Amino acid sequence: MRFAGVSYLFSFDGVFSVKKQLNLDVRETIENLRNEVEHHRFQYYVLDQPEISDAEFDDLFHKLEQLEKDHPEHFSADSPTQKVGAAPSTEFRQVKHRIPLLSLANAMSEEDLDKWEERLGRGLELDEEQLKQLRYVCELKIDGLSIALTYKDGKFVEGATRGNGEIGEDVTLNLKTISVLPKELKAQSDTYSGGALRVPELLEVRGEVYMPVSSFTELNEALSDEGDATFANPRNAASGSLRQKHPRNTAKRKLAIFVYSAFITDKEMSDPPNHFSELELLKLLGFPTESHSRVALGIEEVKAFCREIDSKRHSLDYQTDGVVVKLDQRSLWNALGATSHSPRWAIAFKYPPEEAETLLEDIQFDVGRTGAVTPVAHLAPVKLAGTTVKRASLHNADQIRRLDVRVGDTVLVRKAGEIIPEVLSVKLEKRKPNSVPFEYPTTCPVCNHALERTGDEVAFRCPNTYGCPTQTKRRIEHFASRDAMDIEGVGEVLVDLLVDQDLVKDVADLYRLDAEKLKQLRWKDKKSGEAGKEKQGTKWIENVLSALEESKTRPFPNFIHALGIRHIGASGAEVLADHFMSIEKLESATQEDILAIDGMGPAIAHSVVEFFQSDLTKKLLSDLRGLGVQMQVSESEISARAAIEKTLTGKVFVLTGTMDTLDRAQAEKLIKERGGKASGSVSKKTDFVVAGASAGSKLAKAQELGITVLDEAQFKEMMGV
Ligand code: IVH
Repeated sequence: MRFAGVSYLFSFDGVFSVKKQLNLDVRETIENLRNEVEHHRFQYYVLDQPEISDAEFDDLFHKLEQLEKDHPEHFSADSPTQKVGAAPSTEFRQVKHRIPLLSLANAMSEEDLDKWEERLGRGLELDEEQLKQLRYVCELKIDGLSIALTYKDGKFVEGATRGNGEIGEDVTLNLKTISVLPKELKAQSDTYSGGALRVPELLEVRGEVYMPVSSFTELNEALSDEGDATFANPRNAASGSLRQKHPRNTAKRKLAIFVYSAFITDKEMSDPPNHFSELELLKLLGFPTESHSRVALGIEEVKAFCREIDSKRHSLDYQTDGVVVKLDQRSLWNALGATSHSPRWAIAFKYPPEEAETLLEDIQFDVGRTGAVTPVAHLAPVKLAGTTVKRASLHNADQIRRLDVRVGDTVLVRKAGEIIPEVLSVKLEKRKPNSVPFEYPTTCPVCNHALERTGDEVAFRCPNTYGCPTQTKRRIEHFASRDAMDIEGVGEVLVDLLVDQDLVKDVADLYRLDAEKLKQLRWKDKKSGEAGKEKQGTKWIENVLSALEESKTRPFPNFIHALGIRHIGASGAEVLADHFMSIEKLESATQEDILAIDGMGPAIAHSVVEFFQSDLTKKLLSDLRGLGVQMQVSESEISARAAIEKTLTGKVFVLTGTMDTLDRAQAEKLIKERGGKASGSVSKKTDFVVAGASAGSKLAKAQELGITVLDEAQFKEMMGV
């Protein structure tokens, strides 16, 4: 039909067919762009695995927006330009937001801020003088993931991700693991409507969950030590960590939160009239708010704020990609309203992405403790995001192939605040004619053993686990590290020297060190890097030997963690230690035994059994035993457990909902220690149902069957804790 009009106007056949062709092409281009944008939204929002840079995504999005504007006849309500975020993942219960979570329009330059000011002037019918007097609140735009929190009578009851703006994912339990998130509010006297000291009956809070840059660095180091895939940036790390199936895994990640808006429903209390006082109220109620927020008078002060923050944002421990500017007076918010996408009273001033071009001088490889071999780009030094960058991640072989990156290429490097910069793309137009495709090594750069890649793993590994000197060094370093055997003074530098000088070949050799051997050690000259004769004093030797001696009686979970079994980190080690109690029991465990433990999956079960079947492990354990290393839950711990009276023998408990002070594993442990049993479903055989916050159908069933229901306080009283 659309073309009928065209053919009528241009009844000249040739023109008609050209027009028709053009229109079809546009429709196809728009469709393709929509699919592409949807694909990248999914990668970014749901999988936390962006394939392209933010700048490239913005480019695609703007191209689509422009085409849709030029061709309104192809409008579609389903277009990604009409949506906020992406569809939420189905792994979590869906939550319909009481008040939709909108996005923000962007200002990419100071001129865009001027244009916004003009729009405000028109919308509010203000003259130039009045415009200059407008008060704005400037806040840092934290690069994390937005979150909606609900508090009823001062208690945190529900938290959800943004999802598509209307429906998000219920991540209440995971949010509860964030220590700075208040679980209970501090009562405030309501200065806005003259009430007494109180908390709002219903409070909806919006904020941003983020991962501090320091925690992000630590996490990525730990992941790469484990041979696992690392996160591309703190935002993805925060999102991946918050959307863990098991809250205990979220708890291990150091997440934080800043909040920036409140919606109060209360018969005595109301929303503060100004946004800045809203931030103050949030702080008083106990929420963390970002400390740089400030009121600016007129748009010029806003611009000055944006420049000031740009100069200091890289020294902060959280990533900011811009400044959110909001009108301070909330009555103006209603006057201006919102589009389907974003409010008109706020805008996000975005800093340009931090990318720079430089020369790729070389590609080298790091070997980790599990043998994972990771490519690292060595670059001509380039200034980026406040630091000089010389190395950048190339992630893995697939990434090298995807980018077709070659030594000698000019590459685009991005450092979005995270410590590990990455190579984004190759400037093909600058490629030298004699460049040759990069050949991924087939052998280990350290020991020359052939590399392997198994199953769906992205990393190539050196399987020469015990013959590759770098793997040995990193394994020993891990064994001695703080969360493992915590051997003070035995770190990377000493371990490298000990292995290089043949004084230590495996972790058992650490315990065979004596003063004589340590005296022999030749230290590297700090300046030349050459191995010299410089010796450490006798005090140092005494300290190392006593730290080694002391480490022999570390708790059993530390010992299991120290062994460096793949997929077993500190908390996995804790679960295994708790279940098996001694190395003998753990050594003889079958995959079925391990799978029967709550939270242990097939990859873990396989890896643990394989580790203990190895002859080298058997020899190592027998050596360590001979050297006096404790490999079981200690006598004192056993007698402390035995002293707990078996008051609950035969009693069946069902846990439902969440408790404020205990997680499920801790509660189950308390029950089992007392001889009771924790079961998953409520039946006539259930003796007690322990109902925490947001308890659902299990609680209803318990009431229906007349089973005794305990709240958190009653349960703790019963356990005597
Ligand atoms: S206000 C309707 N304030 O930026 C108001 N958002 O692009 C919407 N963000 O979805 C949000 N820091 O995830 C606001 N101080 C801040 C923010 C902030 C980060 C995020 C938030 C939002 C996105 C908008």
